[in-house]
Amino acid sequence: MCGTVGLFMGCAAVSLCPKQALFARRDDPGGAVDGAGAAVHAKAGEDGTDAYASPFRNWYERATVRSADRRELGPSAADQGFFAPELVPLASHPLIADLRGERPDIHRDVLVRHLYRYLDFTAKLEHLVVNRTVLGIAHGTIGVRLPEAMRLDAFKIYCDEAYHALSSADLAAQVRRATDVRAELPEVPYFVTRLERYLEETPDDLTALTEILFVIVSETLITAQLSEMGNDRSIVPAVREAVRDHALDEGRHHAYFAVFLRHLWGQLTPATRRRAALRVPRLIRIFTDPDVPSVEREVVGYGFSRDDARRIVTELFPDAAVTAYAKTVSQQTVRHFASVGALDDEQVRAEFAAHGLL
Ligand SMILES: [Fe+2]
Ligand SMILES: [Fe+2]
Repeated sequence: MCGTVGLFMGCAAVSLCPKQALFARRDDPGGAVDGAGAAVHAKAGEDGTDAYASPFRNWYERATVRSADRRELGPSAADQGFFAPELVPLASHPLIADLRGERPDIHRDVLVRHLYRYLDFTAKLEHLVVNRTVLGIAHGTIGVRLPEAMRLDAFKIYCDEAYHALSSADLAAQVRRATDVRAELPEVPYFVTRLERYLEETPDDLTALTEILFVIVSETLITAQLSEMGNDRSIVPAVREAVRDHALDEGRHHAYFAVFLRHLWGQLTPATRRRAALRVPRLIRIFTDPDVPSVEREVVGYGFSRDDARRIVTELFPDAAVTAYAKTVSQQTVRHFASVGALDDEQVRAEFAAHGLL
């Protein structure tokens, strides 16, 4: 029903499906919005509308898709890497370092494979998750009333995200040609599988809202280390520039979704707000927890047994480090939810704390 998206998400959130809502509108103008709003109960006079200062005022001049060159892999210095090693725990694991004698390129290969994982994650996140919701915002089919300027900005975000997906796929293809390093990545990335499972166990009336919340979460998390990579001279130029391009665009998206959250929240009933807020911590962890199966498969590919691979990966991602990472990157997201009053509820605070986010 939803084309490519349906392949992965099983169209669980049919009430949100922008295509379905658009088609429904032809027969029943206005009906689609009411239908899509099943999980989003609008309350008159409480729609969070404050004057909207668009973060996209200079979009036509500044957006990557409008103004940046294609990032092409050129010659790079011998000491330039394909990813920041401090962001790739596997690169510094002693057992991988021990392989250097027989596989002198192992360090580079681990970084390249991490780059592929990151680019694939980005392309699929943008196409399958973010743009699915952004399309609904642009066309007013997700049941959230917004000023026209915000609807129009959603069209810009849609272009941005589509270009991020393209530039990710393009860069991965260029690196594959240049290095001949291959990687077996799952057709469905781990975070999508986790989200899909969570949506399956989500009450029907909250499925669409949960998808929207996941997009708000993913668009407001801040990975400072990744942004730093955009200025890191030890990274090959094309990768560094692509990361920087993306970070600049995402700064605008972050500002937009902080405002979007206020509008959404103002249109929910107190009971739905509480149920929604209780889901946010898990959504944050779905996004930030590492793709363990994919790293395990990679380690097996270096000649380790499955048991060894499992042990290595457990060492790479101790619970405390995974939780600390989630807490760090979600600080701003948590602040946005706190600012709309979501954390005023004792049980909601306990849920955030239980996920290590407070
Ligand atoms: Fe993006
Ligand atoms: Fe974005």
